Amino acid sequence: MDAIVLLKEDHKNVEALFKKFEQAGERAHVEKRRLVDQITQELVTHAYIEEEIFYPAARAKVPETSDHVLESVEEHHVVVWILSELKDLDPADEHFTAKVTVLIENVRHHVEEEEKEWFPQVREAMGRKELQALGERMAKAKADAPSEPLAVRSAKA
Ligand SMILES: [Fe+2]
Ligand SMILES: [Fe+2]
Repeated sequence: MDAIVLLKEDHKNVEALFKKFEQAGERAHVEKRRLVDQITQELVTHAYIEEEIFYPAARAKVPETSDHVLESVEEHHVVVWILSELKDLDPADEHFTAKVTVLIENVRHHVEEEEKEWFPQVREAMGRKELQALGERMAKAKADAPSEPLAVRSAKA
């Protein structure tokens, strides 16, 4: 599978979970906990394959996007720290939904920048074959992703 297609699929899946969270009732604590656990798993896996495979490969291929890659890593950093806080937070706590709302805003902004500004440059620089090979590596690497948000590289960036 093409690397960029794979990443965009992930973005879509996580957006669907965000929508479900936003539609969940104020008191739907069990559902909100379940959704946040799912969101965490999706985002940590996605951040892992981007940071381990896609970001370094794209940066090497298109060095002029280095600033973009570095900003993206900082955005991941914020996201994984919020996820780590949500892990031990009771969904009934008044901070829970507020934290998820900020998480969602951050991720939407991040995804928009990746998809609109950066991916097109990478697609142009990389051939189809290279994107396919990268996509295959990322699909396989999903199995090695950690479940702990702070275990991804950007947590310590
Ligand atoms: Fe990202
Ligand atoms: Fe992404």
